[in-house]
Amino acid sequence: MNKLFTLIIILTLVTFGVSSCGQNETDEAGNNAEETGLTDFEMDHGIGPIDQRIEIPDEIDMEKVEKGRQVYRSRCSSCHRMEGRHVGPELGKITTGRSPEFIMNFILNPSENIQRHPVGQALLREYLVEMPYQNVDKEQARAIVEYLRYQAEEN
Ligand code: HEC
Repeated sequence: MNKLFTLIIILTLVTFGVSSCGQNETDEAGNNAEETGLTDFEMDHGIGPIDQRIEIPDEIDMEKVEKGRQVYRSRCSSCHRMEGRHVGPELGKITTGRSPEFIMNFILNPSENIQRHPVGQALLREYLVEMPYQNVDKEQARAIVEYLRYQAEEN
């Protein structure tokens, strides 16, 4: 009788465990998309004006790189380094880990990504400074992405 009772308890626990696993789809970081209230696109590519994938040719566009370099020098380099942590995270290899859309949305809409996106929230907890919007438009943000792609390939 005792054994049967134990078996029932184990079965109940196993069934419960399996079903609750199936209901909550969690991503690698353990974030639940339903809880964040973000769309799948926003989870992958950030929150902001870039709301669909953009086409980026494999070949680096050196004209954009130069434009991006200029904007970056005047509005980003006070807080970011290509190598090593500064006020904000290092950006030299950022294009290998984050999508161009994510990077552009972060530049164009930092406050919402810091407040609502799990990646932004985690970054804020680590860096404790809120990245300000730097008056960068879409075209400039795209040029910065090209500059960062160039950096990632060069180094
Ligand atoms: C006043 C300092 C400051 C300036 C200026 C600044 N940032 Fe940031 N940035 C941060 C901090 C701090 C974070 C980490 C998130 C947070 O705490 O706001 C961050 C995060 C980021 C991220 C996300 C990194 C990741 O791992 O996903 C990107 C991309 C980024 N910044 C790019 C830029 C670019 C490009 C510029 C220039 C247009 C810029 N930042 C200007 C401080 C700054």
